[in-house]
Amino acid sequence: MASRRLDGGARVTPRTQRRGHHHVRSVSRASRARVRAASAVELEGRENGEVKVLVVGATGYIGKFVTRELCARGYDVTAFTREKSGIGGKTGADEARALFPNATVKFGDVSDALSVERDAFGEEKYDVVVSCLASRTGGVKDSWDIDYQATKNVLDAARANGSKHFVLLSAICVQKPLLTFQKAKLKFEQELQEAGDISYSIVRPTAFFKSLAGQVEVVQKGGPYVMFGDGQLASCKPISESDLAKFMADSIREPSMMNKVLPIGGPGEAMSALQQGTMLFEILDKEPKFVKVPIEIMDVVIKVLDVFAGFFSNMKDAAEFGKIGRYYAAESMLVMNDKEQYDADATPSYGTDTLKDFFVKVSKEGLAGQELGDQAVFK
Ligand SMILES: NC(=O)c1ccc[n+]([C@@H]2O[C@H](COP(=O)([O-])OP(=O)(O)OC[C@H]3O[C@@H](n4cnc5c(N)ncnc54)[C@H](OP(=O)(O)O)[C@@H]3O)[C@@H](O)[C@H]2O)c1
Repeated sequence: MASRRLDGGARVTPRTQRRGHHHVRSVSRASRARVRAASAVELEGRENGEVKVLVVGATGYIGKFVTRELCARGYDVTAFTREKSGIGGKTGADEARALFPNATVKFGDVSDALSVERDAFGEEKYDVVVSCLASRTGGVKDSWDIDYQATKNVLDAARANGSKHFVLLSAICVQKPLLTFQKAKLKFEQELQEAGDISYSIVRPTAFFKSLAGQVEVVQKGGPYVMFGDGQLASCKPISESDLAKFMADSIREPSMMNKVLPIGGPGEAMSALQQGTMLFEILDKEPKFVKVPIEIMDVVIKVLDVFAGFFSNMKDAAEFGKIGRYYAAESMLVMNDKEQYDADATPSYGTDTLKDFFVKVSKEGLAGQELGDQAVFK
């Protein structure tokens, strides 16, 4: 299968791009060609400084890097955030402005369609909209509210406003949608693909560094590395915030990234939990010490939580969080091939930041900036 080289070194095979986005076929070829032509023509010949980009979800882990990357590339960037943003709502309006000195920062509520129209768009004409929105909890209602509805509010306003291109931060795991947030994301992805009057780049990354950093400090203090089963149930190609932000920024102008679903991982080989743990002990120069937790324990916990959720609606999220934990323990964050198997070779790589360098950095400087926030199981 022929593969193409994307800006920055990503290799993307057409076959893998098609996996897990069956809805693409429901968009007529003519309308896709029309949209592709429109966005390419609109930005062609224009300097980045003449291209207006709106970022929603700008205060998130990835959103911050995306916003800064777009500013660094000289785009005319507006970040739309809530008055109290960040983990636990601890970032005030002035701090949000300080996060993005080279962007315009506007405040409002993505959950409210009127606020999106009025406070984010207003009279402004954005050429490109980038969404890094995501439920901070991964809870059932919050996922539908944010990963679907709030993102949809932004898309609706973008289309009404005449925006040309929409970049969506999604997740590779939506290719096997068992969890609520995956279903909510997939529903939005489908509607974005079917819109027809706005081009899109749907970016589906594998694991983020923050999701794999949780055990560095424990191991550093002499504790064991905890993993499910033999530590080889699942693998991923971790990608840094910075590399992912570059990849997402590339998608604004790169014709081969238009109207595509783009699974993406970081550089190097896929790694299992066992490989990550082994690497960590080597970096810290410690004798390997693993605790292997049977995955069946998760199944028992989920069953119990499900029973409670049937009686008490406030237990629904607890049951969902159990399922999220189980999912990430056993499902690889890699492209699924035609045989329904996770396939490291079919998962494109991009960027230069390695998990090894990241572990070294965290072991020296700590976890600042890599906090998991409201739902540690999820992120
Ligand atoms: N963790 C991984 O390994 C991994 C791997 C692949 C893909 N992903 C996907 O990446 C996404 C998570 O990215 P991330 O870690 O950057 O997320 P994050 O740090 O949790 O950021 C979420 C963003 O959405 C905003 N948001 C959430 N709820 C909101 C609400 N009610 N009203 C307004 N804004 C709201 C947040 O704003 P505030 O700052 O105001 O809260 C924040 O800007 C998810 O879609 C996940 O599925 C994750």
